Amino acid sequence: MANSNRVLVLFAHPALEKSWVNRHLIRAIQGLESVTVHDLYELYPSFHINVELEQELLLAHDVIVFQHPFYWYSSPALLKEWQDLVLEYGFAYGDGGTALRGKKFLSAITTGGGEKAYCRKGYNRFTIRELLVPFEQTAVLCGMEYLPPFVVQGTHQLREREQIARHVEDYRRTILALRDDTVDWSGLRQLQHLNHGLEQIILSSETMPHV
Ligand SMILES: Cc1cc2nc3c(=O)[nH]c(=O)nc-3n(C[C@H](O)[C@H](O)[C@H](O)COP(=O)(O)O)c2cc1C
Repeated sequence: MANSNRVLVLFAHPALEKSWVNRHLIRAIQGLESVTVHDLYELYPSFHINVELEQELLLAHDVIVFQHPFYWYSSPALLKEWQDLVLEYGFAYGDGGTALRGKKFLSAITTGGGEKAYCRKGYNRFTIRELLVPFEQTAVLCGMEYLPPFVVQGTHQLREREQIARHVEDYRRTILALRDDTVDWSGLRQLQHLNHGLEQIILSSETMPHV
């Protein structure tokens, strides 16, 4: 596989049995070569995170994805606990903390609120990019490149399977393109949300043998 990146998807959903959107998204990328789907709530239902294992996983991958529903303008609690424990001084930042340098970071989130709710005049008052700043700055402090987030919004309106099929396909294409490096990186960096410009930034299918 030419230019293959190893992609680690840290998935955090505390009630997967009630999920409508994330369970389809995660299913679409399970079993792909060089893509590790790591289900944190399944592994750590009691929040006892194996820090050493998690750090080894980070070291073994090039692209780190946080996939989760947006909960109170942030992540579900286990992913916060994961950050607090795994991104240690001397590993992820600080003196000698260079383990994550040069890797790429992607937030892949779903929000109950629709697109219009996430702007100055909307009821959430801030944009998704603004609300994700703690994730962005965490990535940057650790020396990673923060990519525009993949965002599926208005999840409560997505009741029919066909309505989410497009998002599922977009997510799979995104993960494959990041894996295969079939991305126009300068175009990608201009985007607010990665999935608002996929047609422009994913290179043609001839250069994407794995799609
Ligand atoms: C505890 C909790 C907090 C939530 N907070 C937000 C929020 O801050 N913003 C938002 O747009 N939706 C919020 N939601 C809605 C979820 O983001 C939405 O239900 C989820 O993304 C749908 O994905 P799923 O079908 O995979 O569960 C919240 C839901 C729960 C249960």
